[in-house]
Amino acid sequence: MRTVEWHNGAVRMVDQRKIPWELVTVDLPDYQAVAEAISNMTVRGAPAIGASAAFGFALAAHQSQAATVDDLLADLRTAAKVLKDSRPTAVNLAWAVDKLMEIASSGEFTDPDQLRKALLDQAQYIADEDVEINRRMGANGAALVKNGDTILHHCNTGALATVDFGTALGVVRAAHEQNKHIHVLLDETRPRLQGSRLSAWELEQLGVSYDILPDTAAGFYMQKGEIKLVLVGADRIAANGDTANKIGTYQIAVLAKENGIPFYVVAPTSTVDLSLSSGAEIPIEERDKSEVLAPYGNAIAPAHFHARNPAFDVTPNRYISGIVTENGIARPPFTESLKRAVAGEAV
Ligand code: MRU
Repeated sequence: MRTVEWHNGAVRMVDQRKIPWELVTVDLPDYQAVAEAISNMTVRGAPAIGASAAFGFALAAHQSQAATVDDLLADLRTAAKVLKDSRPTAVNLAWAVDKLMEIASSGEFTDPDQLRKALLDQAQYIADEDVEINRRMGANGAALVKNGDTILHHCNTGALATVDFGTALGVVRAAHEQNKHIHVLLDETRPRLQGSRLSAWELEQLGVSYDILPDTAAGFYMQKGEIKLVLVGADRIAANGDTANKIGTYQIAVLAKENGIPFYVVAPTSTVDLSLSSGAEIPIEERDKSEVLAPYGNAIAPAHFHARNPAFDVTPNRYISGIVTENGIARPPFTESLKRAVAGEAV
């Protein structure tokens, strides 16, 4: 099953807010609903957000009543802005919208219906390619996993965070498919609890051995020598390898270095933003304090208490052993290796 797909003129996606209690999908009839679903985290995870935005853009083209390509382009510019503004950090969102916008403004089309079809074809291509890329990353990353390893993982990077298969959890899946005996320690990942709700649900389906950890316990198990490898995903990677990922990733990376544990990022090249020279330029989303004070509506402190809620942090490149991409494992210095990986060269 795919996390997001085109279905009878609507965008269908798994409602990730309901997992692990229920597996349900929602059909979104217009691009505004797709933007809202990205923003309220019905769909989340950088590659899944990218594919959703691509289908949302194709949906905007189908919604538009424009009878000329010029009028259609005007509607698409509005849709592109609404979709791009729905979440700021994962670059896959802008990457996907820009790819479709390039087609729309190429000047190649005189018939708006042909343009509508070309946009849907491209969105479908992005979704299909995501699955294929994830399998390649899985194969590349599985080489890092030894039989008997215990792996620490943060947030959710599995099939739900992508169109299918996953990034860092895709590596876990590939290693499991190679019959390697592995155990995964899943950070619960406060405040949205992607680890305990989504990653644990995914490992249950796959039959991979796991335990959920309070986020604060990672250092404890590193110090005891239990953790052999850390695998995380990414939402945006700057040209020098600095990596924005779910809040809490930075402290794990520092602890991993202190304890001599390899720390790998697993992400497709569509997550690399070569226009940013360092992580300092990555926009970091701050979400509502209610997610901290009352996660999923369960109040743990009075609503008037003060709280802050950054959704991502940036791990400096010096803490990263390597970045697993579909084109191989990029190693330091990342400024060179990432440029080659993005150009499609084997690294
Ligand atoms: O806020 P989210 O859930 O959209 O966060 C994105 C993520 O799932 C992670 O940061 C992930 O590690 C990168 S996407 C595979």
